[in-house]
Amino acid sequence: MKVANKIQNVRSSVKANRGGSKTIGLVPTMGALHIGHISLIQAARKQSDFIVVSIFVNPTQFGPNEDFDNYPRPIDDDLKICEQNGVDLVFAPTAAEMYPDENITWVTVEKLTDSLCGRSRPTHFQAVTTVCSKLFNIIQPDLAFFGQKDAQQVIVIKQMVADLNMSLKIITCPTVREPDGLAVSSRNKYLNDEERKAAPLLYKSLLKAEQLVKSGRKNTADIIAQMKSILSTSDLLQPDYIEIVDTRTLGHIESINGPVLIAVAVKLPSTRLIDNIIVDA
Ligand code: PAF
Repeated sequence: MKVANKIQNVRSSVKANRGGSKTIGLVPTMGALHIGHISLIQAARKQSDFIVVSIFVNPTQFGPNEDFDNYPRPIDDDLKICEQNGVDLVFAPTAAEMYPDENITWVTVEKLTDSLCGRSRPTHFQAVTTVCSKLFNIIQPDLAFFGQKDAQQVIVIKQMVADLNMSLKIITCPTVREPDGLAVSSRNKYLNDEERKAAPLLYKSLLKAEQLVKSGRKNTADIIAQMKSILSTSDLLQPDYIEIVDTRTLGHIESINGPVLIAVAVKLPSTRLIDNIIVDA
């Protein structure tokens, strides 16, 4: 496995391995790799001939009071995980390599970024789409793999790829969960014991919503009220949003008549957690 910190080196390494009909697969990450990332790497291995993992804690996608400084950066462990899982090339640039000067060019996807996480993180998605555009331009993958856990991120990136005619395909991989249902996330490391015990309530509320939809309940306000009452069984969880939206436009839905994205975000004292499921009525 090769590790490159410089854009120039990553470009030449990918170029040397591109030949013929070889498929280049990219798994973009911010490091602190866990079983969720490993599932993305495994999916990439099945569908690509040359696998690149990028590890870059992108400073621009963190808000002023967010956890950029504390975000875990266990690079040695991350490299070991990549090596053990058959990654061919790791791109681990510094912030100075990615942003040598003040960044004044942004890729903005409108509308889809106004709701859900975009409401409490107003500058987040344009930073994600910008850094992903940079990674796609540098690596020029045929496929890029993202987790369904960040549902809005995947929808926004797919829209960007379509609108800008980028020549890669975005593959969405299922959310990986702990045995008690908590969606695996690098931010789970922040949870203390009490918070960790309360955190599976997110998935519990989503499963309740799924059960209600499957049993024919259509009114989203009723379903959201029941989800809220599950989350309120812990004082540690402050809902940021609980929403039932269109899977393509992310627009609010009042009455369910087809597939919907049910998404939840909560604030805990130590961090913010998100989760979602797609349910077809
Ligand atoms: O999902 C993430 O880890 C990040 O948002 C991404 C896609 C690597 C961009 O920095």
